Amino acid sequence: MHALLGGFLRSPQFKAQITRETRSAVQRALASWRITDLDQQQPQPVYVQDESKKIAFEVIVRTLMSIGPGEDLNFLRREFEEYIKGFISLPIKLPGTRLYKSLKAKGRMIKVIRSIIEQRKISIEKENNKRSSSSEEGSTSIPKDIIDVLLRDTLESSADETQPRLPLDSISENIIEMMIPGEETVPTSLTLAVKFLSDSPLILARLLEENMELKKRKEQSGDEYDWTDYVSLPFTQNVISETLRMGNIVNAVWREAVKDVTIKGHFIPKGWCVLASFSSIHMDEANYENPYEFNPHRWEKSGANVNSNKFTPFGGGQRLCPGLELSRLEIAISLHHLVTTYSWVAEDDDITYFPFVRLRRKLPITITPLVGAI
Ligand code: HEM
Repeated sequence: MHALLGGFLRSPQFKAQITRETRSAVQRALASWRITDLDQQQPQPVYVQDESKKIAFEVIVRTLMSIGPGEDLNFLRREFEEYIKGFISLPIKLPGTRLYKSLKAKGRMIKVIRSIIEQRKISIEKENNKRSSSSEEGSTSIPKDIIDVLLRDTLESSADETQPRLPLDSISENIIEMMIPGEETVPTSLTLAVKFLSDSPLILARLLEENMELKKRKEQSGDEYDWTDYVSLPFTQNVISETLRMGNIVNAVWREAVKDVTIKGHFIPKGWCVLASFSSIHMDEANYENPYEFNPHRWEKSGANVNSNKFTPFGGGQRLCPGLELSRLEIAISLHHLVTTYSWVAEDDDITYFPFVRLRRKLPITITPLVGAI
């Protein structure tokens, strides 16, 4: 599963497609921001945390099941919000309790996703039949989303049997589970980036300069943005790395020893759990000079994309996050269009780290459009 996902998310076809879709989601969101309230009396704050969530949800739903803006997306958004409320709740499943409502919402999502999977299954089978009757070999079309990836794998591996190997409900469950890691982490990273940039005017000015150069280049050439345009801006990538280092959105992971093991002289008996703390690595003076200072320039020597044992926001080893490149791309696209469309003033806000990384007030900002940007 991990290899299937990673392979799809890293493919240039997927990146080209998701770049177009993310850019359009970001531009739509930015265009909907109001500068003043409806009475035109007061500046209207924009809550970066909420806005980032809207964008990231659209991107993850596109990635998983190719649903664009509209009723289905709104339905999934509402149900998903209800579903995740049950993650921190008393384990009482009675009508009216938070857990009960959460499981009901999950059930409604499964129904919708299952019907998408069934339709998709029919079209893949039709395509396969057409191919076998014309005796072509190999898979023809490229998967367009994760449902396609999982379904094709399931159908191919059960080609000799009457039923797919993975029941369709398991695919629906997998799709919902995959909404969880992608839905929270990216918007939190983007919100933190805006917070850190608001507190560091010189860094913001450098970021703006780099992104304006790209914007002007694109305007002059008339070419569409390509995914490589966004990820090849070195300073922007440094800002993203520095945000991930300081943000520690996934601050640790648990591992259970499956057998007795000794690591660097420490004996860990079979069955014991170990907490690998990423924040301890990222905030250690031995690894980073002035670790509490937001300083994207520190990445100029080492390169921003290095996932090393001193920089593990996406974990490492076999369970390295398959959404790594998608996340960096999504944050880069969002930052590019934000800084080249608006300047802003952020209100005071604090980062809280427990139980999740959050901005206490959702990071309200007051925006001003840049000349000629809208
Ligand atoms: C800034 C954004 C993100 C961060 C910081 C992040 C971080 C992580 C980390 C640390 C892990 C490893 C967990 C472990 O070792 O137990 C992980 C796993 C995972 N992530 Fe992400 N993630 C991000 C975005 C995404 C996105 C956008 C997706 C979906 C496309 C995603 C999908 C997954 C999945 C499916 C796993 C489980 C991999 C496995 O266990 O084999 N992540 N992520």
